[in-house]
Amino acid sequence: MSLDIKQTESPEKVISAVTEEHIIIRGGRPLEGSVTISGAKNAVLKMMAGALLVNDIVVLRNVPNLTDVNMMAEVIRYLGAKVEIANNEVTIDARNLTEFEAPYELVSQFRASFVVLGPLLARLGQAKVSLPGGCAIGERRIDLHERGLRQLGAEISIEHGYVNATASKLIGSRIYLDRPSNGATENIMLAAILAEGQTIIENAAQDPEIVNLAEFCNAIGGKVAGAGTYQIVIDGVRREDLHGAVVGTIPDRLEAGTFMLAVLATQGEITLEGVYPHHLYSLISKMADIGAEISILAPSIIKVTARHKARATDVTTQPYPAFPTDLQAPIMAVLVGASGTSIITETIYENRFMQVAELRRMGAEIALTGNSAAVIKGVERLTGAEVQSSDLRAAASLIIAGLAAEGVTEVGGLKHLDRGYENLEAKFRALGADIYRR
Ligand code: EPU
Repeated sequence: MSLDIKQTESPEKVISAVTEEHIIIRGGRPLEGSVTISGAKNAVLKMMAGALLVNDIVVLRNVPNLTDVNMMAEVIRYLGAKVEIANNEVTIDARNLTEFEAPYELVSQFRASFVVLGPLLARLGQAKVSLPGGCAIGERRIDLHERGLRQLGAEISIEHGYVNATASKLIGSRIYLDRPSNGATENIMLAAILAEGQTIIENAAQDPEIVNLAEFCNAIGGKVAGAGTYQIVIDGVRREDLHGAVVGTIPDRLEAGTFMLAVLATQGEITLEGVYPHHLYSLISKMADIGAEISILAPSIIKVTARHKARATDVTTQPYPAFPTDLQAPIMAVLVGASGTSIITETIYENRFMQVAELRRMGAEIALTGNSAAVIKGVERLTGAEVQSSDLRAAASLIIAGLAAEGVTEVGGLKHLDRGYENLEAKFRALGADIYRR
């Protein structure tokens, strides 16, 4: 790794630049073989928060080993729960909650922890959760969480950087979300499970992770119907009706999508196991359009064959079941090397093109129109370079580009990658890639 350190850098910064880990990739090898997909980060984190509702023991299976999972364990331990993580299983005993406050030090590192607000409020009648603060990819407001919980009868104020929520009891209500926010759907669902009467969430997020959370709620004794559609109906139950359960985590469709796109970028043929094809139709259809052959071999096995350069296409990110924002950066890494000109339109976040400047360092030709559209002129070849990731999916994008590029790519900013991909480089190595971490 060559370092370009200016004389003016502080010694601490220089040392961290020298010691920071990188993923080193020698690109240009086709991917061949089979990979098993891990459990979904964005499902398991919410179920861990949901375990705070239960005066009993909850076991979650197929849990990926990720820093975000460890961080969520820290948050709920702070609140008084006992948490054990071993062999891709998490055991949570929240019989003895001692705190209703999730502090800034924890929440600011890790936005998903904001989802403890709903269960804490429902279980304890009060919750104080730090506002997560800024995020590299967008503003990420919480107005819909707030409005939904108010409609259930909570009093909510924001003071000194914290959301304070109190309710002597929650009462079911019909709640319309202006947009199908995942986080708001989850927080409202996890609060409404203990509300008096019926709650209906209209224009709910329809993502598979929401369905998994509803399965979790039902497994612990809640009554949730309609998850996976735009209307979720929750019939409140009493706290003593909730009980322990063992619940499985769905496969991570975004990890699966990352591998599928990597094959298209590099050519080759891989089989993905432990994956639900019906969670991936928007991607499967797009990839088939641009030159991949995709076969569903069994209910949980997909084969992807790519023998030619991809063709250009247009992609617009939208809420599930449309093309996911979380695969926008990964598909861009394919389209930069495709034949022809593609346009990607990002509609979910205000600032999710941060991979662009790094892909340009590898020879990509991309023009941005504000923060919402990228025009990509496919180039003959990418060339390896030192690049820095700014968020989880940007990291995945740069790794895919590195696998396809000529020469050596060094990807930094791995703390983002480790939040959401379990053993990514080991899995790529097993598929024949020349990739390692140092
Ligand atoms: N939004 C509002 N008001 C709200 C809530 C959301 O305006 O009250 C806006 C947000 O600012 C954003 C959009 O709605 O622009 C979508 O937000 P959503 O609430 O759906 O997202 P989230 O729950 O914060 C989850 C995933 C994200 C993923 C999004 C969209 C987790 C932990 N995170 O975030 O995943 O991008 O849904 O699908 O589940 C990732 O895994 O890399 C990641 C960022």
